[in-house]
Amino acid sequence: MDMKVKVLLYLIFLFISPLYGNTARLSINRRGLEVKKHMNRLNKFPIKSIKSPDGDIIDCVHISNQPAFDHPLLKNHTIQMRPNYHPEGIFTGSKKVVKDGGVKTKPITQMWHKNGRCPEGTIPIRRTKEEDLMRANSVEKYGIKKHKSMPIPKPQPNLINQNGHQHAIAFVEGEKYYGAKATINVWDPKIQQPNEFSLSQFWILGGSFSEDLNSIEAGWQVSPDLYGDNNTRLFTYWTSDAYQATGCYNLLCSGFVQINNDIAMGASIYPISGYHNSQFDISILVWKDPQEGNWWMQYGSDHVLGYWPGFLFSYLSDSGSMIEWGGEVVNSESDGQHTTTQMGSGHFPEEGFGKASYIRNIQIVDETNNLRAPKDIGTFTEDSSCYDVQLGKNGDWGNFFYYGGPGRNPNCP
Ligand SMILES: *[C@@H]1O[C@H](CO)[C@@H](O)[C@H](O)[C@H]1NC(C)=O
Ligand SMILES: *[C@@H]1O[C@H](CO)[C@@H](O)[C@H](O)[C@H]1NC(C)=O
Repeated sequence: MDMKVKVLLYLIFLFISPLYGNTARLSINRRGLEVKKHMNRLNKFPIKSIKSPDGDIIDCVHISNQPAFDHPLLKNHTIQMRPNYHPEGIFTGSKKVVKDGGVKTKPITQMWHKNGRCPEGTIPIRRTKEEDLMRANSVEKYGIKKHKSMPIPKPQPNLINQNGHQHAIAFVEGEKYYGAKATINVWDPKIQQPNEFSLSQFWILGGSFSEDLNSIEAGWQVSPDLYGDNNTRLFTYWTSDAYQATGCYNLLCSGFVQINNDIAMGASIYPISGYHNSQFDISILVWKDPQEGNWWMQYGSDHVLGYWPGFLFSYLSDSGSMIEWGGEVVNSESDGQHTTTQMGSGHFPEEGFGKASYIRNIQIVDETNNLRAPKDIGTFTEDSSCYDVQLGKNGDWGNFFYYGGPGRNPNCP
């Protein structure tokens, strides 16, 4: 697009944006102005907008107008429309048929697809609403984790305070990792307090557990504070300084470059698994392009979503040093007892398929850029009577584990 046209469109957008975000109703106070300013920064001019049945508005934004390009280091960036390399070989012309683990799973789409799709050349962005920002303690911190948030499976010299976060995970360390893959069972755990959350994801970690930890994360989450509801949503996170000044969820800051017009970060996943009922899962692959150094993300078997440019990171501009897969909840102990916020299905691993949540076919990308089974998988949980994890291995599911739990119960008071 011509620069003048772009500027003109932007000015028009600024002028009409109050109609989009209901900011007209805002009283002119400092916070109101701050909110409006931040909304204008986050929400880009949409070519088309789709109202999702869950209340979200999905803006189809021209690909070259996405939040990534607000990053000073991305000003002259040429978008990579496809990775140079794919660990499953789909870009070399020999697409492998990935076996589906023998489980009958229907394809999972996003809820907003019921009401439309974004055209080619655009990307779908979940619009940030006034009420989203009003929920945040600080407008500037919306979309940024409040606490350091990754499991520390072993006592570390520089132990980072975990602020009541609890995990049940499987992990590997001790090699150089260039990516990770997993198929994650999708549930809708109950959240006790709006400031708590429950998620299932993997972490690709670089560096040590100190103030310069690098992390790339993807999975699903239920987070009333972030989204204003209890829906299960696809999310990503990145940081290059242990969750301090860099990184954010989804596209809520500049960093991730999206190329896909089908999948919106932060959108509700549909459908969800039921207890003793149909099971649904999502596959996520993140890998490093050995040529450009970008970290790519794929959702399902055919949605290459985009990439985190390598220069966002320090350690991860080379490789990861640890991969973790599993669940995390916040236990705020608001009533002096352990939270009742559930992890996964809210049931313990012992209950098995159809009842407990699972993460299956966990794999890593090794130094030769190939996907393979991880070696020497460890497990970790802060308190197995609240949330637990149980490893397994078989032909269809490869390396897998069941994980999760109800939180508060007679053994976890
Ligand atoms: C972008 O390109 C312009 C013109 O070539 C140059 O002056 C500027 O330094 C570049 N910016 C970055 C961040 O590379
Ligand atoms: C989310 O669920 C909790 C109970 O688990 C409920 O109290 C709360 O009202 C729900 N929040 C929303 C926004 O629906």
